[in-house]
Amino acid sequence: MSGRKYPVDIEYADIQGGILTAYGRLGFPFGRFGLVSISDAADGRRFVEALRHKVTTAVRWPSSKQKIPPGRLVVERPLVTLNLAFTYRGLEALGVPTRTRRGLPDEFMDGMAARAKILGDDTKENPLSGWDEVWRPQGTGKRVHILVMLNAQMGPDGQPVPALGAAQADVARLCDEIAGVELLSGHGGPDPHWQQLEALRDSKGLPCPKEHFGYTDAISDPVFEGQYPKEYEKDRAVGFGATDGAGNWRPLAAGEFLLGWPDEAQEIPGAAMPLDFSRNGTFIAYRKLHQDVDAFNAWVDWAAGRLQQAWNLATPDIARQTLLAKMAGRWPDGVPLDVAPTFADLQRFNAECEPDKEGHVVRDESARARALVDFGYREDPDGIKCPLGAHIRRCNTRDTLDPRGDSPDASTRMGSALNNRRRILRRGLPYGNAGDGTNDQGIVMLVTCASLQRQFEFVQQQWLNYGLDANSGNDTCPLVGNHGEDEKFVIPADPKSGDPPFIAGGLKQWVTTRGGDYFFVPSMTALRMIGMGVVDPT
Ligand code: HEM
Repeated sequence: MSGRKYPVDIEYADIQGGILTAYGRLGFPFGRFGLVSISDAADGRRFVEALRHKVTTAVRWPSSKQKIPPGRLVVERPLVTLNLAFTYRGLEALGVPTRTRRGLPDEFMDGMAARAKILGDDTKENPLSGWDEVWRPQGTGKRVHILVMLNAQMGPDGQPVPALGAAQADVARLCDEIAGVELLSGHGGPDPHWQQLEALRDSKGLPCPKEHFGYTDAISDPVFEGQYPKEYEKDRAVGFGATDGAGNWRPLAAGEFLLGWPDEAQEIPGAAMPLDFSRNGTFIAYRKLHQDVDAFNAWVDWAAGRLQQAWNLATPDIARQTLLAKMAGRWPDGVPLDVAPTFADLQRFNAECEPDKEGHVVRDESARARALVDFGYREDPDGIKCPLGAHIRRCNTRDTLDPRGDSPDASTRMGSALNNRRRILRRGLPYGNAGDGTNDQGIVMLVTCASLQRQFEFVQQQWLNYGLDANSGNDTCPLVGNHGEDEKFVIPADPKSGDPPFIAGGLKQWVTTRGGDYFFVPSMTALRMIGMGVVDPT
């Protein structure tokens, strides 16, 4: 059930930017993330106060597509955005009262390193010892307290606008000037003080939503109540919100992503007091994930050769693309297997999106965009089209776990409360440059949700690093899961083809964690309370 019974009119000016919409989608393809440690509470609050007025909110900027209604506040699009988030230890170091902190969730208090067992960050292939120095609990001895996130537009030279360097210098200067505040060093990559991030480029050199393994990313993203103006909300929810299992979509409850709002259980969960400290805030799991592109490509080439033979596919390229699609649930260009289960279907689908000689298209841009998200797995219970263990089917099971999903009477289906309570917003950007000889590339994922334990940790532990809900026993996600010895991925074949199921063995650890922590992203109101030292739980 959703919290739709309650009016949801989200206060954009109270919510930090980057939550409702990823900065990458808004034309900010560069990021610099810095980590700050505090040794004196008053000094730490001075630092927060010095930056607070520059923090970017969720207030929408005027654009050619969207005019701001008369009488409403107009905030110009900045060249660089700035956002702040805090670890539990950071809130403590800033002097947030114990009574308030006690109301915060256990997993947030623990921090990410302490949850390594649950997250699969403590295995031989994915050890805590591989984390960047800045994150390592036993590393520098300094503790991460504040995350400073800068995102920047691109200048005409294809580089970040100069204002990004100026914003970094501002933060660094504050850290030099204020005695009890330090910008931590020890990020992997070219600059030890800043995690550098940058969208990949397309063939024209422009930023694009690709990730390092070659897939188009950033297609699916939950839509929730209040996120978009009322008049677009219903449309925006198609393929992105919650499904009732009969093809109807609705926005998810705001409380799944913002604290202080009713969630999918129609409850406003208990929160750290005073309520204004929590309301309009959220949590992020910062995950720096390294991608071993060379090892991934070598394995895909090898396994695709075997798949080509087993299924008698026409060319090595078709076998390669088919294998990649079965692993992710989408073809590398983003088309879902549900829409195009075979390579021939993919070609047909894409041809229908191109104008013919008379300039007619079967599927225009908006119909294509809709087809990319408006689907479920109900008609494919055995994973013949999209394997149950494919990455996107694991992470967002859509209508698969509907308890009445097999009911022939569509009106009695329910959608899936289990899935609706496990949705996550994916924010962040890639880092590094595959092919530059350093093998240092991946993504910094900011997994954003109201409950790190119920949403992020569940998806990571149960759906990515375990296989029971995907009918796959112990098999982990073929794309991003932990892969110990003898790891395999089973790809069911279409019984009509007469082909055998394909068992892809020898999967390697392609994605390893290089650091991260759990952060609270306060509302602007709470940020003021933290900075001014006036959090009062009584
Ligand atoms: C390097 C690591 C990762 C890579 C390369 C990767 C890649 C992808 C790709 C290519 C897609 C399809 C594009 C889209 O639907 O937007 C996707 C979707 C998704 N991924 Fe990942 N992913 C990674 C890690 C993770 C992790 C760690 C999680 C969760 C903790 C996750 C959760 C999701 C979710 C929720 C979706 C959307 C599924 C849907 O709504 O249909 N991913 N990912």
